[in-house]
Amino acid sequence: MLITKIYKTDEITEAADELKKGELIAFPTETVYGLGADATNEQAVKRVYMAKGRPSDNPLIVTVASFEMMEKYVDNISQNAQKLIEHFWPGSLTLIFKIKPGSLSRAVTGGLETAAFRMPDNAVTRKLINLAGVPIVGPSANSSGKPSPTTAQHVFHDLEGRIAGIVDDGATTVGVESTILDMSSEVPTILRPGAVLGEEIEQLLGEKIIFDRHKVGEKETPKAPGMKYKHYAPDAQVLIVKQKEWNVAYDWAKKSNKKIGIMALNTDLEKNLPDNCIPYDLGSDIHTASQRLFAGLRYFDNEQPVKWILAAGFAEKGLGAAYMNRLRKSAGDRFFEK
Ligand code: TXA
Ligand code: MG
Repeated sequence: MLITKIYKTDEITEAADELKKGELIAFPTETVYGLGADATNEQAVKRVYMAKGRPSDNPLIVTVASFEMMEKYVDNISQNAQKLIEHFWPGSLTLIFKIKPGSLSRAVTGGLETAAFRMPDNAVTRKLINLAGVPIVGPSANSSGKPSPTTAQHVFHDLEGRIAGIVDDGATTVGVESTILDMSSEVPTILRPGAVLGEEIEQLLGEKIIFDRHKVGEKETPKAPGMKYKHYAPDAQVLIVKQKEWNVAYDWAKKSNKKIGIMALNTDLEKNLPDNCIPYDLGSDIHTASQRLFAGLRYFDNEQPVKWILAAGFAEKGLGAAYMNRLRKSAGDRFFEK
């Protein structure tokens, strides 16, 4: 067992040294915490899969601190791609490109001819990468199948003893993982919705893109390999509650002899919450709800075990599309029904 060290944001020189030695360091981003390893060190990258318990055919994002860092791996970056990078980097947009053959190990790409690149909107992490002098792989720093971590404590809970350290920069601000845009296909295609919206991308490029809305349980193999695995699953069964159905949901909950977790906007929690219900406040809107979603699922797993979690559903537009994509997975697509 390793001793997992928590680094403050002014201690990253030490964390960068660990990365250079091939050790694993979790890092903050604006979306969720990532699990870093030197992307050019195959042995280090392989240990990321082991630490997370992640299937090895599921490729990793390459996290860079500059555009130049990516140019080593990608030829002919299109004008559209350059526009997107200029406008959205650093930020919550991951771009998939065809890579120069052999420029990244199979452990990173899962054997694909493409790789995913992202520059996070977190200055500490960009400095960490620059100090390490290499791009770092960056899957979410959770045990495979669990909700993504939005605090250093979540990472510690899942990966203590398996990684050398965690850089702690507090809670992440966006809370759901980045938008993944495949730029290697003929028409740019969103493989995973996130805080950067498809509509914003279309507006910037002045052309239509494809929204690949694969649902849980669909037979077709999703293009982002990771989307096919069970995800974000807490121990309790999650039921999604449509906004107008909270009163009915509370009536149902009241009749149960079990403890029930309620993840809802503060206005809905203020209604007459039944005694057997344990509240988790999602704040006032879709932004705070997205920030707190994963932490809420973890709260009921680790601190307040419940049989059921009733969780607020949102309209699937704007950031609501990203939020619902995650919530649907954690619920196995189950909605509360009267
Ligand atoms: O916000 C984020 O993107 C976070 C932070 C830490 O940067 N990272 C993250 O990584 O969510 P991960 O590994 O949990 O999710 C990345 C997804 C996976 O579903 C993976 O299958 C997909 O990206 N992916 C990676 N490379 C790909 C490629 N070349 N083609 C298609 N999908 C790819
Ligand atoms: Mg993940």
